[in-house]
Amino acid sequence: MSAPFGEQPRLMARGESAQLFDLGNGQVLKLFRDSVSDEMIAREVDASCHAYACGVPAAAAVGRRAWDGRRGIVYPRLDGGTLMAWIRRNPMRAGWALDRMAAIQAAMHRESGGALRPLKQVLATDIAYGPASIALQRTAIAYLETLPDGDALTHGDFHLGNVMMTPQGMKVIDWSKAAAGHPAADAVRSEMLMRFGIGPSDWVTNLWRDWAAGRLRKSYLAAGTLTPRDMDLWRPVVALAWLRARNAGRTPAFHRYLDDALRSSGIGRLHQE
Ligand SMILES: Nc1ncnc2c1ncn2[C@@H]1O[C@H](COP(=O)(O)OP(=O)(O)OP(=O)(O)O)[C@@H](O)[C@H]1O
Ligand SMILES: [Mg+2]
Repeated sequence: MSAPFGEQPRLMARGESAQLFDLGNGQVLKLFRDSVSDEMIAREVDASCHAYACGVPAAAAVGRRAWDGRRGIVYPRLDGGTLMAWIRRNPMRAGWALDRMAAIQAAMHRESGGALRPLKQVLATDIAYGPASIALQRTAIAYLETLPDGDALTHGDFHLGNVMMTPQGMKVIDWSKAAAGHPAADAVRSEMLMRFGIGPSDWVTNLWRDWAAGRLRKSYLAAGTLTPRDMDLWRPVVALAWLRARNAGRTPAFHRYLDDALRSSGIGRLHQE
């Protein structure tokens, strides 16, 4: 691929939905794949700026910029790598890093989601377009309606690959799934991403994943925003919604987790209703 701007722009990183180019002026250009909707790109701009304005440590979008027919967002360049890469290099400090990550998420949840889309609506849509039977979908959506709305700033994809470790501390990136909603839904989503999200899933890593999810949850709950019961209430609907776009490992373990959550909330079961 040829260079987007400047003398020697460099492909710095790539994610599932975009490629990152160094613009050479302290800024980077995130160029999206064609499959990403305009709505998601606009949301990422709005949510990153909103989060930054609320005091959340985030890289705020500088603006939108297209190149060669591809849509992009300009961001300030963050030095350092993702928290996932940092933990691989500093495994003995993982507990500290997870505590800090949880504190950032709890602080984010004390802020309002402002004009972002309502999280309950996102969950209901994902359940309705997901693979569960119509009967299970109906019961789950009716259950979702009984849960409190909430108005917190939620990230929607808060995992080790979306937090960067910079010399100025941790910074949260990738706000395209942000919404306004109940903090417990976002905390449960992070628990699921840690345990069952994209990445290695050999048995040693899985032990680590389960430990890390527990540590993140414990530190998050210590901030006092939520109780374990709040997380239990949201787990079945957040997990069912995730089935729509889930593209990650540990599927049998995830299905057990989902079925446990569905059963204990009285919603039903994924495989036999
Ligand atoms: N402002 C930034 N400065 C430097 N590097 C960045 C910046 N933002 C993102 N990156 C790098 O680019 C990678 C991909 O960024 P991002 O997570 O925003 O993209 P994505 O394609 O939406 O990711 P995903 O794979 O989660 O869908 C990050 O893991 C990080 O290494
Ligand atoms: Mg990402």
